[in-house]
Amino acid sequence: MHITVVGTGYVGLVAGAGLADFGMHVICVDKIQEKIDILNSGEIPFYEPGLKELVDRNVANKRLSFSTDLRSAVEQSLAIFIAVGTPSDEKGRADLSAVEELAHDLAQIVNDYKVIVTKSTVPVGTNRWIKSIIDKEKKNPVEIDIVSNPEFLREGSAVEDFMRPNRVVLGSDSQRALAIVKDIYRPLYLIETPFVITGLETAEMIKYASNAFLATKISFINEIANLCEAVGADVHQVAKAMGLDRRIGPKFLHPGPGFGGSCFPKDTLALAQLGRDYESPIRIVETVIEVNNAQKERMVEKIVNLLDGNVKDKTIALLGLSFKPNTSDIREAPSITIVKRLLDRGAKIRAYDPVAIDEFKKLFPETLITYCEDAYSTAEGADVVVIVTEWNEFRNLDLKRIKDVVKKPNLADLRNVYDPIKVKNLGFKYTCVGRIVKEPH
Ligand code: UDX
Repeated sequence: MHITVVGTGYVGLVAGAGLADFGMHVICVDKIQEKIDILNSGEIPFYEPGLKELVDRNVANKRLSFSTDLRSAVEQSLAIFIAVGTPSDEKGRADLSAVEELAHDLAQIVNDYKVIVTKSTVPVGTNRWIKSIIDKEKKNPVEIDIVSNPEFLREGSAVEDFMRPNRVVLGSDSQRALAIVKDIYRPLYLIETPFVITGLETAEMIKYASNAFLATKISFINEIANLCEAVGADVHQVAKAMGLDRRIGPKFLHPGPGFGGSCFPKDTLALAQLGRDYESPIRIVETVIEVNNAQKERMVEKIVNLLDGNVKDKTIALLGLSFKPNTSDIREAPSITIVKRLLDRGAKIRAYDPVAIDEFKKLFPETLITYCEDAYSTAEGADVVVIVTEWNEFRNLDLKRIKDVVKKPNLADLRNVYDPIKVKNLGFKYTCVGRIVKEPH
């Protein structure tokens, strides 16, 4: 079967390469010539573990190719996957302009029966709207169907998530379209992946509800962590014991500097806005957003407190800039808030990240931040070292070596990577998120 995937971001490229691996013939289309040129030269425009191997293998097998020519790709394809971006607009609604433009373009092109499969995260009602645009404007009297197939992949493990998803959600009114998409995902049937078949609106809602629920878990544990600090309790033990209750589960109960990334911040905003639009406010999600913003600011205060409130001209060493490990993505990363606030207060910033420095330089050029080559060189002369992202290489640092190169042994461990007592015993002034830092009596 021939498939077109429109959009070569995380979702589109992983889906395109993954579907090619399932035996489909896939053309990934993007409007941006530069992105297609990079892909055609054998490079991947962002860092995602395992993706290059997957792409290379399928390009070599001639099942995967890249093009800017939407018409030619669509004409050859039975299914067209939409994986274009839906960023937040200024009100927090999903900006659907790329989706809308694509619907207009598809209407001009469709030459035969096509199944349009939407992977982009879109508000409830969007799939029906896409179909109505194409039906109204189509040049040829052909039938089209639409399927909502939300994507749940995590950056950093996107390939694994595509190949072994917890579930596949397919929403459609058309049995014919559902049969075609099920056929595309046949390899997942064979590994007994649960398929949830629903209507369009339900599938759209599943995506938002799932992401908002995970974001809620994070904001919940972050607030519990903050309270733990106030009452002298240890959030790790609290989270562990909570997670042992199977109704709660252990995942997404790790406190930290707040969630970032391309999904949770955007999807919580969009769901809250949807609730307001329909006069059915989702108050929990409104609060989750507020708590998350406050958590990022709280991290700044933690760093400032380690410096006894004197930030001006102090050197701050940041370890990790991406919103989470194993990705170069810095969208909505807590590091951005932290850097902005500290620069505003006159700090000097040194920073290192294994892969996200180039992205970060686009926001904060070298005139504002001294970028370094590893954790130890970043720590040189620092008044405080801050672990912002829990990359593996920061989990087992030689803290004695760090202590030798810093100006002041202050460590802000915003991901709770280190044992507070051990770090204190090494002579560091230490702060983390929601754990007991004092020696037990
Ligand atoms: C998420 C969803 O997991 C995925 O299903 C969806 O399709 C897209 O959004 P992703 O943004 O790649 O994926 O990352 P994820 O691993 O879910 O982490 C999101 C954010 O939450 C990160 O900033 C992470 O640091 C933070 N987080 C996660 C916590 O602070 N604590 C946790 O316990 C888990």
